[in-house]
Amino acid sequence: MSSETLPATSITPTTAAAPVAARAAEIASDASAPNVVFDVRDLNVFYGAFKAVRDVNLSVHKHEITAFIGPSGCGKSTVLRCFDRMNDLIESARVEGQVLYHGVDLYDPRIDPVEVRKRIGMVFQKPNPFPKSIYDNIAFGPKISGSKENLDDVVEKALRQAALWDEVKDRLKKSAMGLSGGQQQRLCIARAIAVEPEVILMDEPCSALDPIATARIEDLMQELKSEYTILIVTHNMQQAARVSDRTAFFTTEVNPESDTRTGMLVEFDSTNTIFSAPSDERTENYVTGRFG
Ligand SMILES: Nc1ncnc2c1ncn2[C@@H]1O[C@H](COP(=O)(O)OP(=O)(O)OP(=O)(O)O)[C@@H](O)[C@H]1O
Ligand SMILES: [Mg+2]
Repeated sequence: MSSETLPATSITPTTAAAPVAARAAEIASDASAPNVVFDVRDLNVFYGAFKAVRDVNLSVHKHEITAFIGPSGCGKSTVLRCFDRMNDLIESARVEGQVLYHGVDLYDPRIDPVEVRKRIGMVFQKPNPFPKSIYDNIAFGPKISGSKENLDDVVEKALRQAALWDEVKDRLKKSAMGLSGGQQQRLCIARAIAVEPEVILMDEPCSALDPIATARIEDLMQELKSEYTILIVTHNMQQAARVSDRTAFFTTEVNPESDTRTGMLVEFDSTNTIFSAPSDERTENYVTGRFG
């Protein structure tokens, strides 16, 4: 595909009839519709014959933080990986439905997943710096994508945006492995930012961090959302309530015939509504801690 294909701006509101889909359609068709970055329609993800998550409909808005919450195994990471086609790297994974990015289906066979991942960056649960210098960790992406910008400037800008510059400016050539866990995670955020994506996906980015490092990442997310669109998976409900604008609550349902559990989206709404006046009892039970 040509790289011109992706940034198309036309967005068609979803018309699916399911309640969540109707809500997504309502959100997508309101005055802020031009701000819809992703429109997920009837998404189902399988690993081999196992349906891991079914019938997901939601929309992700520009310059917002969207949180995915729900019990272990409900498909949060699976769904998150659909936004940058990371599930392509899992041999058994199969995706049905649509993930529209500015109206363009990311799963259209003409779309190049490498191109997708340039626009949609990912930060993982465990900080995973390359065993290289701090400088080279950040410069790596821009270098391979043939950036014409001055690399020193790119590195400084990304580290400043990730609120790490002051702590590392005197040791840029030292190994990134010598940084603390919280610093390593900010380095990974800087590395994701350095290629100038539009979206940053974060899968439990703070679960390996102490409360102080977590607070720094949360502050950082608030600063970054003026320039980026952020999706975060978190098990920490206070974190979802603190940082996100919209929240998607997922749970699992038993498949009696196979004794397996399939994940599903129960409710998607403004974070305020999800935490203070959810419309589904399952959401309420989860956010009030009555269900683990
Ligand atoms: N690579 C894989 N191969 C097969 N099944 C998988 C794979 N990854 C996930 N699954 C299954 O898909 C379902 C959803 O998993 P997923 O990792 O998306 O859940 P999650 O909500 O992120 O859970 P957690 O909170 O524990 O991280 C689970 O039943 C899981 O066992
Ligand atoms: Mg997960």
